[in-house]
Amino acid sequence: MRLIMGMALALILFSFYVSRADDTIKIGVILAMTGGTSAFGQQTWTGMQIGRNIRPTVLGKKVELILLDNKSDKIESANAAQRLIQKDKVIGIIGDVASSNSLAIAPIAEDNHIPHISPSSTNPIVTLNRKYVFRACFIDPFQGEVMAKFAYNELKARKAAVLTDIGQDYSVGLTSAFAKTYKKLGGQIVRQVNYQSGDQDFTAQLTAIKETDPDIIAITGYYTEIALIARQARELGIKATLIAGDGAEAPELTEIGGEAVDGLYYTTHFDEKAVLTPLGKKYVEMFRKQNKSTPDALGALGADAYLIILDAIERTSSTNPEKIRDAIEKTKDFQGITGAITINKNHDAVKNVVIRQVKGRDSVYISSVNP
Ligand code: PHE
Repeated sequence: MRLIMGMALALILFSFYVSRADDTIKIGVILAMTGGTSAFGQQTWTGMQIGRNIRPTVLGKKVELILLDNKSDKIESANAAQRLIQKDKVIGIIGDVASSNSLAIAPIAEDNHIPHISPSSTNPIVTLNRKYVFRACFIDPFQGEVMAKFAYNELKARKAAVLTDIGQDYSVGLTSAFAKTYKKLGGQIVRQVNYQSGDQDFTAQLTAIKETDPDIIAITGYYTEIALIARQARELGIKATLIAGDGAEAPELTEIGGEAVDGLYYTTHFDEKAVLTPLGKKYVEMFRKQNKSTPDALGALGADAYLIILDAIERTSSTNPEKIRDAIEKTKDFQGITGAITINKNHDAVKNVVIRQVKGRDSVYISSVNP
């Protein structure tokens, strides 16, 4: 009798578990919540939560986001992807921001046939020749071209020095894209020097740059090092205008850089002044209500990555990862937060580049460049 009752109870609990599991859709999220690029993870997660508040369900099911912190590390990123697929049985993965980390996640998603979408990794290799990997943003050959044209045509800079973080795929790729267009336009790269994420002292590189008296210095890495480089450059008496890519986008840029980063130009993905879609307007309003800061690109892209997956699930009326993959691939003119999103044949989004300039503690909108 006891045994039968026990079995009946187990059956009830099991069916409860099954029906519950059926009612939720699990999406894995891998972000740098701690470590060298933690500002990226924090900003993305904040925005993704707003995206989830805008749209918490699909096909009548609740969406559960399972967040794992990769500690700004490639190996942790790969381990997180394995865990989300094997243990949590997610139907898709969103993440990371830094291209090197997304490059560690992508092959695992690919091997396991789980759709993976990076909100903001811009290195072209992330999606290259991959069936299951996508991104919600533009790529660095375009970003580097916009930086170079802005430097040459708008800033009238003829001599550029470039600093590259050789530990980051993003920085290496952005430097080569920038240099290619800049030279084509007739500009001269007077000095090209390297550093690595985590470095603190850039005196040797900056002394070598100072000798060449450049009009601009392009720094293609991430915010912490950009801020330190800016400070040390000013201390050495270098007056050249500073320019960076989307890696500059973090409150820490001005917190660490102070006056040294004032006037720095950078390219990015989003500006509330350039928001046109109803979803974008709603996002900005919700963001403003909840935060004191200006809505950043990372949050907006995080929310878009989430909404792209939900849109795909709805169009395919299925939670099967293969079907979701097929539907993401067909994303066309989706009216997202950062604009109308179309996934091209390389699985990248075709989007505008926004140029901003640091002014005091904030940054201001300069212009938008169409692809
Ligand atoms: N594009 C950067 C990379 O690929 C990440 C990034 C995106 C950082 C947007 C800030 C803002 O590594």
